[in-house]
Amino acid sequence: GLRKKEVNVLCLGLDNSGKTTIINQLKPSNTQEQEIVPTIGFNIEKFKSSSLLFTVFDMSGQNRYRNLWEHYYKESHAIIFVVDSSDKLRMVVAKEELDTLLNHEDIRCKKLPMLFFANKMDLQDSMSSIRVSQMLCLENIKDKPWHICDSNAIKGEGLQEGLDWLQGEVF
Ligand code: GTP
Ligand code: MG
Repeated sequence: GLRKKEVNVLCLGLDNSGKTTIINQLKPSNTQEQEIVPTIGFNIEKFKSSSLLFTVFDMSGQNRYRNLWEHYYKESHAIIFVVDSSDKLRMVVAKEELDTLLNHEDIRCKKLPMLFFANKMDLQDSMSSIRVSQMLCLENIKDKPWHICDSNAIKGEGLQEGLDWLQGEVF
């Protein structure tokens, strides 16, 4: 049949936000990890959707590894940015990292689709995706298509909606 279009996706966000858990859920069940551990550096994962072949760079969000992110901006076709909606204290840190990303020369002028997951929506004190988008000032992103979804990565809820949106943007 037809070859699927290949798409490089960069998965970013602070440590403990749920990036690896999300990517793991999107992989075929026979290749999913049973146990998720904090990412060291980054991992490369591949999975297919109906029309696309995704290569995901699952980056570590730990402070000491965040300087690795920018090396992958040039070759990325889309960004998934994951936020822990229950981590109110570090929402400003997430915003700082997002702003640094958006101002980077390899990102600034590109119409990269950006998918945000307001993750951990199952937790009692988590903020809504509307609140998260306000805290991150997403409405200021004028030159890129963006979308935010609530998600519960442990149950896999909200992930397909996000992926469907992304698929429509890169195709
Ligand atoms: P780094 O690799 O260190 O950057 O972290 P990460 O963003 O990849 O986070 P990871 O996927 O390792 O998840 C961190 C912790 O959050 C794990 O204990 C997950 O089980 C948990 N977690 C992830 N998603 C959710 C969620 O939607 N709800 C809840 N309650 N916990 C979650
Ligand atoms: Mg990880």
